[in-house]
Order: sequence, then C-alpha cells, then structure tokens
Amino acid sequence: MVPGSVGAVPAEPAVRLDPVRLDPALVPALVEVVGQPNVVTDPEVTASYAVDWTGRYRGTAPIVVRPGSTDEVAEVVRRCRDVGAALVPQGGNTGMVGGGVPLAGEVVVSLRRLDAVDAVDGRAGQLTARAGVTLAGVQQAAAAAGWAYGVDLGGRDSATIGGNVATNAGGLRVLRYGDTRAQVLGVEAVLGTGAVVSHLGGLIKDNTGYPLHALLCGSEGTLGVVTAVRLRLVPPAPARVVALLGMRGPGDAVAGAQQLRRTLPALSAAELMLGSGVSLVSRVLGLPQPLAEPHGAYLLVEASGATDPTGALSEAVASLEGVRDAAVATEPAPAAALFRYREGHTEAINSIGPPHKLDVSFPPDVLAEMVDRMPQVVAAVAPGADVWLFGHVGDGNVHVNVTGVDPDDNRVDDAVFRAVAAAGGSISAEHGIGTAKRPWLGLGRSEAELAAFAAIKRALDPDGILNPNVLAVA
Ligand code: FAD
Ligand code: MLT
Ligand code: ZN
Repeated sequence: MVPGSVGAVPAEPAVRLDPVRLDPALVPALVEVVGQPNVVTDPEVTASYAVDWTGRYRGTAPIVVRPGSTDEVAEVVRRCRDVGAALVPQGGNTGMVGGGVPLAGEVVVSLRRLDAVDAVDGRAGQLTARAGVTLAGVQQAAAAAGWAYGVDLGGRDSATIGGNVATNAGGLRVLRYGDTRAQVLGVEAVLGTGAVVSHLGGLIKDNTGYPLHALLCGSEGTLGVVTAVRLRLVPPAPARVVALLGMRGPGDAVAGAQQLRRTLPALSAAELMLGSGVSLVSRVLGLPQPLAEPHGAYLLVEASGATDPTGALSEAVASLEGVRDAAVATEPAPAAALFRYREGHTEAINSIGPPHKLDVSFPPDVLAEMVDRMPQVVAAVAPGADVWLFGHVGDGNVHVNVTGVDPDDNRVDDAVFRAVAAAGGSISAEHGIGTAKRPWLGLGRSEAELAAFAAIKRALDPDGILNPNVLAVA
C-alpha cells in the first residue's frame, strides 16, 4: 500500500504523531536571530498557538518564534534545520484541517509580524503584501487604490494572506474570480534549506520555467514558508444586489445555482444553506428568521458589477424552479445582514462542540444527489450525529459538518470521504489536507502522483523540517 492510501480506518485519531524532541540550544539560537521578546516559551502565552480554530486539534507549543522580516524567517529556518527541529508555519490560525498547529510539539513560526502591504501598483492593478497581512488588510489596500481583491471569506479579519496562499483558500467568490492561486502572480518564500526564492515582479506573461508560486499555493507550509505575495487585483463591482431565496428543497437550490451561472452574467456568489443550519445560526447569533416562514433550503445569491444588476437578478431568479420566497438587499448593511446567516454557520456550529469539518466538492451532475445523500452516509456510521450542510454550491463545494461525534472518532470522516471519492468528488475542496485528511489522500491521488509529491518535498525540504505531519507524502 502506498503512503496515504487507505484500508480499514479504525475509530481512533486519524494520525498518531511522535513528539518532536527539541535541542536545548535552539532557544538561544532563535533569540540571537529575532531577539528575546520574539521567542515565546511561556506555556500560558503559547497555548493559543497550539489549538486550532475548531478546537478539534490540540497540541503543545514549547517554542513560538515571531520573525519580523524575510531574512529573519530564513535564519530561523536554518537554525531549526541545524538541530533537526521540525516547524509549523502559522498565520491567523483559522485553518480547518489541523495543519497550522504544533500537534507533535513542533516549533511554531508565526508570520503575523510580517504585516506590511509593500506596494500597490494602481496602473498594473497589483499589490505586494507580506505574509502576515490579513485578508481584510489586502482588501482594504486594494480598495484604497481604486481596485478590489477577488477572494473573500468569513475569516477575513484573522486569516493572513500567507495562510490563504498556503491553503489556496477559496471562499465566496470563486465562481467569479477563481481561488487564491488564480490571484497570485508571484511569491517570496523560504524553502526547507533556508534558501529564499523570490519572484515578485508581477509580469502577467512570464513563462520562465516552473511556476513555483503556483506550486506553493496549496502546499500547506510543507514546501516553503511564504513571506510575501504579489497579487493581481480586479476592477471594483460597486453595484451589488444580494437575494436570499427560500427554496422548496436542496435539489432546487443546487439546480438554481447551476442555472444562474449561465443566465446571470453578473453572478458573483451562490451559497447553499439548509433550514436546520439557518435556524441554528438564528438561535446562536440571536437573529430573527430571515424570511416570513422557514424553508427546507436557501440559496444566497449575489450579483455585482459596474451597473445595477437588480433587474437582471430578478429576471434570472424569476425563471428558477422551487423559489418560495425572497429577501432582496441592495444597500451594504442589509446585504451584509443576509450574508450573516451564511457566514455565521462556522461560529454557530462550533458553539455545539468541535465539529468534524468535511469540506468536499462534487461534479455538477451528481451534486444535488450527493447533497441529499450525505445525511444518510453519516447516519449509517453515526446514527446520533447531527449533520450540517452548507457551502459554495455555485462551484460544487459543500461543507459537510458533523457534530455529536467524538473528535477522535474518524468513522464519519471515512464514510463521507469514501462516498465523495466514489462519486468523482474531491475530499478537500478548499481547506487542504492538513493532518485531518492525511490517511485519505490516496482516495484522490494516484501512486504516481504521490511519488511526484514526495520527490518535490525532498527537493525543497530535504530534511523534512517543514510541517512534517501535514500531507506527509515523503
Ligand atoms: P493558518 O490557519 O495559520 O494556517 C493554515 C495552513 O497554512 C497551515 O498548514 C499552516 O502551516 C500554513 N501556513 C500559514 N501561513 C503560512 C505561511 N506564511 N507560509 C507557509 N505556510 C503557512 N477557507 C476557505 O478556503 N474558504 C472559506 O470560505 C473559508 N471561510 C472561513 C470562515 C471562517 C469563519 C474561518 C474561521 C475560516 C475559514 N476558512 C475558509 C479557513 C481559513 O480561513 C483559510 O484556510 C485561511 O486561508 C487560513 O489562513 P490563516 O492565516 O489563518 O492560516
Ligand atoms: C465557509 O465556507 O464558511 C468556510 O469554509 C468555513 C467553514 O467551513 O466553516
Ligand atoms: Zn468554505
């Protein structure tokens, strides 16, 4: 069996990790590089770096180091390599797959001090941001220059652009602008050798060999520590309308999103919610039900452009099947209030207890059927569990969240991933593999692909010090 392929999966943690042993000489070596205040060893302070956003993944962080420049990051990596210490790069710690926390006691390299937007080139419609700038910071810098940034997601105020690149984050507007990789024109990163690779010129046409920036997008901190990013910007779309559609059922919502992609050129988001999820969000966040009556499913639609798309949206929605009711917002505050029902899912589900977050995607022809089937797939192995379905249905991405199952019991994960793979879907649409999905990587990748992954890993990180427990293809 190849590494990453799966046989029978027991009801225990997906990955058991050997604790990392850290050389006592490492702390003074790191202090030499970044100064005493930026090497944190106090367990009370490091504790928050050791647990992920969902609370499902918890490790220990004996050392958190906070470099303030690319040179310092490179020297930190070299010092770690000198003593064979594994490290975990960490940005905003909003990741969903246990990839950014030191589950085996690795050194945490926090990139948050690299928080400058270096340059906005208004003529090119590009900007260069250091890795620790938040996604919201990138969006604001773009807006200040009269442009917009194409990626948006609920974790925008904490998630960093380095983390977005490392996870190839998707989010709410992929159907319009593509994922993070589609925005990235160049990257600066420190490889596992300590070497710095930097290609931030921003040329749109530049076929000079391997696109390392594209490879680093989605590499989850296993090939390089991203220190800066060159991003393409998009023209702003100031005229915006948001409609929350109460639908007869999930099948109509899926079909509606698929139809709108063709009939509404201004479509910029199409998000699925179910009645149970909207009720939970309303209860936990103290919001009223969004429409007069509850509905089995909801489709949240956004259209945007230079001119008012309200008429086009109304016309396109009028020809959808199964629309029972609608709320429409053209001003920013009410539009944000409608989005709150969708973005509030992450927080509301977390309030029940650490969820199993199974972020998957399906081909269009089986999407509706698989949304319907997911609760049965879960019930077959965990009859008492609650299933919460929502997601970026416009691009085939469904978030299957399961609560009421022990965090270490991975039978649900196994059942869902196998059903997804059998339907031709992906076991990770946008969150990555992390440590959470490691045992199932072989469901989506062939032996030859995994061997190529391992060869790339050895080339860029020969001693395997960069996030060794994530992906783990070597
Ligand atoms: P972290 O969580 O710190 O790290 C994530 C991974 O990237 C880890 O493997 C880590 O080692 C690596 N990493 C971080 N920084 C670097 C770096 N500079 N260099 C190399 N590796 C690095 N994700 C989506 O795709 N779409 C969504 O719609 C979405 N919505 C979200 C909504 C909420 C409310 C929350 C909390 C999260 C959401 N996420 C979403 C998940 C998360 O925000 C993204 O995965 C984000 O890209 C992670 O950024 P971060 O800075 O928090 O990274
Ligand atoms: C989302 O779309 O809300 C995010 O990917 C986060 C989540 O899955 O909870
Ligand atoms: Zn998502």
